Amino acid sequence: ATPTIAVLVGSLRTGSHNQALAHALEKLAAGKASFEYVQIGDLPLYNQDFDKDYPAEGLRLKEQIKKADAVLFVTPEYNRSVPGVLKNAIDIGSRPYGHSAFAGKPAAVIGASIGAIGTALAQQHLRNILAYLDMPVLGQPEAFIHFKEGLIDGQGTISNEGTRDFLQGFVDKFLAWIATHGGQH
Ligand code: FNR
Repeated sequence: ATPTIAVLVGSLRTGSHNQALAHALEKLAAGKASFEYVQIGDLPLYNQDFDKDYPAEGLRLKEQIKKADAVLFVTPEYNRSVPGVLKNAIDIGSRPYGHSAFAGKPAAVIGASIGAIGTALAQQHLRNILAYLDMPVLGQPEAFIHFKEGLIDGQGTISNEGTRDFLQGFVDKFLAWIATHGGQH
C-alpha cells in the first residue's frame, strides 16, 4: 500500500508559496503516496487546561496525524523562526503528556521564502522541535526554496526544470525514508 503523508503547511495566506510548494510535492508523489492536508488555522491557542478535556479541533488534528504513516512540514520562516500558527499546531498535537501524536513518525521539512537564505533558520528550529518529539527526520537533501514569481503556480506546476528535478529527488528520498523508518502506528 502507498503511504499516507499528513502535511502541515505553516502559512494560512491566500496564494501562499508554501501551499503551492506542498501541491507541487503532492504532484511529484502522485501514485506513490497520498497527501492529507492537516487544517491548523482553526485550532485554538494551546492551553494546558486542554489536557483535562481536549478541544475537538485538537482531537481531529491528533487523529489525522496518528493515522498517517509520515508527516511533512512545509513552512515559511517568520522572524527567523517557525510561524506561531505551526508551533501552536505542533504543541497541540504533542499533548497531553505521554500521548503525543508525533512520536516515532518519520518526517521531512521543507520551506519556501522570497528571501535568499529564507527558511534555513526556521527549518533548523523546527528540526530541534522534531528531535524532542522523537521523530526520525530526513537529513538530506535539505531544501530551501528561494521563491521567485512564477516558480510554482496554484496547481503545483513547477516552471523550472532544475527545481522540478531537485524536488523530485527530495520526494523520492522521503518516500524511501518512510519505507525504512515507518510502521510505528
Ligand atoms: C516574513 N518573511 C520572512 N522571510 C524570511 O526569509 N525570513 C524571515 O525571517 C521572514 N520573516 C517574516 C515575518 C513575517 C511576520 C512575515 C509575514 C513574513 C517573508 C516570507 O518569506 C514571505 O512572506 C513568504 O511569502 C511567506 O510564505 P507564504 O505565506 O508565501 O507561504
